[in-house]
Amino acid sequence: GEAIHLPDTRFSFEGIFGHFDRASAQRGFQVYKEVCSNCHSMRLLSYRNLRDLGLSDAEVRAIAASYQVQDGPNDEGQMFERPARPSDRFRSPFANEKAARAANNGALPPDLSVIVKAREGGADYIHALLMGYEDPPAGMTLMPGMNYNKYFAGHQIAMAAPLSSEGQVEYADGTKATVDQMVTDVATFLAWAAEPELEQRKALGVKMVIFFTVLGGLAYAVKRKIWADVH
Ligand code: HEM
Repeated sequence: GEAIHLPDTRFSFEGIFGHFDRASAQRGFQVYKEVCSNCHSMRLLSYRNLRDLGLSDAEVRAIAASYQVQDGPNDEGQMFERPARPSDRFRSPFANEKAARAANNGALPPDLSVIVKAREGGADYIHALLMGYEDPPAGMTLMPGMNYNKYFAGHQIAMAAPLSSEGQVEYADGTKATVDQMVTDVATFLAWAAEPELEQRKALGVKMVIFFTVLGGLAYAVKRKIWADVH
């Protein structure tokens, strides 16, 4: 297909010393919770994973408890609802694919747990996609219910721009919620979700470089010594 050039967003987690900006990822969780989770599941995440973003035990318990999840069967063989616990997976917005499609004009909102790894361009793509809504070019007719997006393959996407006006979320930490800020934050959150071990991976890489540099220097010194008398 046609190659689409993605704008490059500068994220905290790029580069060899990359780390997740915890404040940004926490705000991104707020965006996911208040906006995206109305349609998108994140089935691989448990509420307790949010501890890694710097949320306290009490905060995680409160977030979990604000959701009702199915449990059971109990001793009487009945299913029942109870408040979620930190060990529960994120609650999905729809019971199954059929219900998800029915609510979305036939389209399926994909699970976002590992979407950053599943799409070429990763977090840059998520950022570009969410910022990429425009009027269709002259002469292009969209299919009913579809939206024009510069960065979506084929340019017709069933998802309407989910983040389109400043202040759509009110950030708990007082950060000004511009569209770009919300988009960057949610992309950071989704990147963390898809690869929570990124920081350890990068730290290990740095240690390996140091280790092999020292080892290489040592090997060279030993070689010089061993061959010193050979003329
Ligand atoms: C698709 C992210 C909110 C409905 C997608 C995709 C991503 C995404 C990454 C996949 C695009 C691709 O296939 O390359 C987000 C984020 C949201 C959000 C980060 C919150 C900021 C919503 C909401 C709805 C929704 C609120 C429903 C009202 C859909 C649907 C699709 C989709 C139906 C499938 C589109 C298609 O295949 O044509 N979304 N989304 N999304 N989203 Fe969202």
